[in-house]
Amino acid sequence: VSAQVIDGKAVAAMVRAAVAADVEAFTLRTGLTPGLATVLVGDDPASAVYVGAKQRACLEVGITPFDERLEADASADDVAKVLHALGANPAVNGILLQLPVPAHLSGEALTGLIGADKDVDGLSEVNAGRLSLGRPGVMELLAHTGTTLEGAEAVVLGRSNLFGKPMAALLLAANATVTVCHSRTRDLAAVCARADILIAAVGRPRMVKGDWIKPGAVVIDVGINRLTPDEAGNSSGLVGDVDFAAASQVASSITPVPGGVGPMTIAMLLANTLKAAVADAQAQGIA
Ligand SMILES: NC(=O)c1ccc[n+]([C@@H]2O[C@H](COP(=O)([O-])OP(=O)(O)OC[C@H]3O[C@@H](n4cnc5c(N)ncnc54)[C@H](OP(=O)(O)O)[C@@H]3O)[C@@H](O)[C@H]2O)c1
Repeated sequence: VSAQVIDGKAVAAMVRAAVAADVEAFTLRTGLTPGLATVLVGDDPASAVYVGAKQRACLEVGITPFDERLEADASADDVAKVLHALGANPAVNGILLQLPVPAHLSGEALTGLIGADKDVDGLSEVNAGRLSLGRPGVMELLAHTGTTLEGAEAVVLGRSNLFGKPMAALLLAANATVTVCHSRTRDLAAVCARADILIAAVGRPRMVKGDWIKPGAVVIDVGINRLTPDEAGNSSGLVGDVDFAAASQVASSITPVPGGVGPMTIAMLLANTLKAAVADAQAQGIA
């Protein structure tokens, strides 16, 4: 058997198209344009690529991008000033501080300066249980594959506050029976093998083997691990937490890396920015 490969790029394109249509309707109705600000500190090349992609994606769907860049040696105060100014700017509905920030700064402390209403990345304490990117993106992918969550055995591999825990909560809310695994879990392979839906977010290249997977399971690989193109066997050098070649012989559907969960990240960011703009317009009695 060869699993259906879940095309995250295609699903993300559908989400982006829906956001573009909704932004157009919102702008017609209110005369307002949603705005998203990215804040990049330093010159990490991967971060610059992500920020560039987010800026372009905004333009594509009719969201106004704001592009704030600070030198790598910017102080916490410098970054705080920029975040506060964006927070006070009514044209900016969403603010995203690109992580990681340089080592002398605290990403967590700075992210905490973004008000919950503009935290479209869902990383602030208030939003951590609600929004963040990867998680609703995973739910969209599951919906797209027609996976029944109610009553299903779901196993989430990884218990981070950023991903594993809130992912488990979303699955539970959708009436799945949820097990969360971590580094102290005994006999990980056996626990994973129970899963109708297996979601891997551990950050260990190809840790999940083919024989850990229940035949016919849906496998969502959240991991993004950077290897050399040779090691990865692809030009991007990226691999997931699942041994894709082996797992796709057993699973019914599986997300690839790259091209699975990753592309959903930007799509959900745009959707969250529009949501924030609508909420803001409603609060002003415009929408
Ligand atoms: N596609 C996206 O949009 C997206 C978004 C977010 C993250 N990611 C990727 O997802 C992965 C996980 O991210 P994260 O922020 O959740 O990572 P994290 O904070 O490092 O958490 C990793 C989790 O995996 C567990 N773990 C580590 N090694 C293990 C092992 N050998 N056996 C069992 N469990 C193990 C850890 O257990 P303990 O708690 O016991 O230490 C922890 O709960 C990373 O590859 C990241 O790049 C992708």
